[in-house]
Amino acid sequence: MALEFARRIRDIPVYPAADGYALPDEVAMLASNESPYPPLPEVVGAVQRVLSGVNRYPDPTNATLRKRLSRAYGVPANRIAIGNGSCDILLAAADALLEPGAEVVYAWPSFSIYPHLAATTGATAVTVPLDDEDRHDLPAMADAVTVATRLVIVCNPNNPTSTAVPLQKIVELLDAVPRHVCVIVDEAYCEFNVLGHPDASLDLLDAHPNLVLLRTFSKVHGLCGLRVGFALCGAEEFRLAVDQVRQPFFCNAAAQAAAVEALEHGDEVTRRVERAVAGRLQLEEGLRGLGLLVTDSQANFVWTHLPEDADEAAVVRGLAERGVLVRAGAALGREGALRVTCGTPDENDRFLAALAEIVNG
Ligand SMILES: Cc1ncc(COP(=O)(O)O)c(C=O)c1O
Repeated sequence: MALEFARRIRDIPVYPAADGYALPDEVAMLASNESPYPPLPEVVGAVQRVLSGVNRYPDPTNATLRKRLSRAYGVPANRIAIGNGSCDILLAAADALLEPGAEVVYAWPSFSIYPHLAATTGATAVTVPLDDEDRHDLPAMADAVTVATRLVIVCNPNNPTSTAVPLQKIVELLDAVPRHVCVIVDEAYCEFNVLGHPDASLDLLDAHPNLVLLRTFSKVHGLCGLRVGFALCGAEEFRLAVDQVRQPFFCNAAAQAAAVEALEHGDEVTRRVERAVAGRLQLEEGLRGLGLLVTDSQANFVWTHLPEDADEAAVVRGLAERGVLVRAGAALGREGALRVTCGTPDENDRFLAALAEIVNG
């Protein structure tokens, strides 16, 4: 006899994870917005040093990491939450804030984990379409807030469309949303946004206690395999709540050590951003050269619309057959598009050459 699961399990979408975990090294992995560059030797060294002590539980308060983040971002440590990846903090926020009858507002298409938040809690997802340029429509999102809203999520820059909204628009949203509604600005890719300073949003925290800036070590720091993310909060209440709903020891010792060490290498962050920006120019120029429409990317990936008559699945398959993995728009909320991570210059060239072959028949 089959197990009897909770009703809500049927509503939880399966996360559209990319293929390619057991593929040979020569495959260009441009499907998961990862860094193509390995961790720094100092970061690997920091991880190795903690391994001999893993008979002990990790520090459940993440004290060293929070203190170091506090120094880096000027936010008090009691207002910094840590997570087993930033997804962990999103799911914990849903657990703490949402319940049947409550609403969560987010744009669509946006990050694939957001639909899980309503589904796992029985809350209602209110999705607001992106505008004609694949950007968040923040006035429409403000209008979507009702008495039932507990959480608004803005993904800036947005995954999968790579577009960013100016900070002033976020200020206007914050001004329009009542204090009891939590606003999470998911800034997983903020370091790659050259429209403004990535840390300009930090200035908003003191004036907006309901604001949470969600960051990760998975992208620019290249530590997604270790799983560590953090939230910079306008008030301590958010951290206390997300810590309350999770298991203790949610961030392992290797992840804590790697993140602390990574924060010592701001120069490496700058180098990686420069390489990613050069890579996205390479991809944007190449895609436009093929006559394809590309959104204005402020992330470490690009989003391109395929011609109307193109068979998206066949294009993705054709690329995979040529050793290049990218994400099909259909899996991310909009059919007829591709999301392509900025790889090394060679990987980007391989992608463009393979796509040219497919598009030009
Ligand atoms: C917008 C956005 N937020 C958060 C994450 C999650 O990152 P992690 O859980 O690895 O910190 C991702 C990962 O792709 C993302 O695209």
